[in-house]
Amino acid sequence: MNIGLLGFGVVGRGVYDFALNREDVTVSRVLVRSPKPELGALATEQVQDILADPTIDTVVEVMGGLHPAYEYICAALKAGKHVVTANKAVISAYYPEFIALAKEQGVALRCTAAVGGGIPWLVNLERCKRLDQVMELGGIMNGTSNFIMDAMHAAPVSFPAILKQAQELGYAEADPSADIDGDDIRRKLTISANVAFDALLAEEEIPMFGIRTVTDGDIAAFQSHGFVCKLIATAQRCGEGVCAFIEPTLVDSHELEAAVPANFNLISYSGQWTGRQSYFGQGAGRYPTAYNVVQDCLDILDGQRNFYTEAMAPTALDGDAVAHPYYVRTSCPDAWLESITADRWECGVITSAVSVGQMLTWAHQQVQKDPTCFIAGIR
Ligand code: HSE
Repeated sequence: MNIGLLGFGVVGRGVYDFALNREDVTVSRVLVRSPKPELGALATEQVQDILADPTIDTVVEVMGGLHPAYEYICAALKAGKHVVTANKAVISAYYPEFIALAKEQGVALRCTAAVGGGIPWLVNLERCKRLDQVMELGGIMNGTSNFIMDAMHAAPVSFPAILKQAQELGYAEADPSADIDGDDIRRKLTISANVAFDALLAEEEIPMFGIRTVTDGDIAAFQSHGFVCKLIATAQRCGEGVCAFIEPTLVDSHELEAAVPANFNLISYSGQWTGRQSYFGQGAGRYPTAYNVVQDCLDILDGQRNFYTEAMAPTALDGDAVAHPYYVRTSCPDAWLESITADRWECGVITSAVSVGQMLTWAHQQVQKDPTCFIAGIR
């Protein structure tokens, strides 16, 4: 396999290093944004040098972002090249278009590293569907936010300091707000739910609330009541639709999620027959992510031409299908919050069961009035 590598950042270098030690996979050209003397003649700043090279059979896109990744992937598929990408933004936004092009050209499109970094999640979700029906999926799908939450439970630490550390370790997105506010998880949840349910969910309509406003006082209160707070994504079948959301969640300290350390991810699905299966591992970082990218290349080399899902149908999102109690901390409670308050903790209140859609809509409005407001679902 001759690879044209688009991008030589954290993941690109990892792919390059893995390929160096193999005879079956060769990186033939690398698209770079700035000179990379260590690559010698392999480096080019012109994507056409890759797209028009007939000896390159596979394009590996690890640049990230929507554009020009979208244009380059389309061009590569149209040029009859297999495509492997780790780019969740572009896959979440354009997957149906990409697979239509790939089918037309008889080439493969794989993106296992787009969800869960080095965890073989999408490939197993794809396998599960051959024999079972996925009823629910989700979990801890972002390494940076878990790294932050884990550190905040271990010792009093400032949010900016621990975020900076995650960035230095190469876990965080270029714009770390995507990690903290839930956008990164929402892309991964959309891709996973689309694969699991053969759905086409509107990513931007999935409600989410991030961890930007959590304080050490909140964490101390959770710990004193036997809970651990994690940023958790959920998608489950409900009627004809899907209920999907991302929110800080208080899990019992004995739950699997509570024990997930550092930048690790824990992603699970529940099959109708198999019950829960969980996948734990490195959700970010150079070699874990590059591992799944190169595994996709090896699968293509072995003749793999499946798409994770092909029958994607627009599917309604139902935010009211799931309800549970919440922890809410706000300096200006309103009448609605008072009406659902069932208990009071040190710095916040505990509500009676409220639908996720209702609470997340309220929380976003409340943040306009009280930017320090924090909520967490209790499961
Ligand atoms: N920023 C992401 C994370 C990288 O922290 O999980 C992998 O998608």
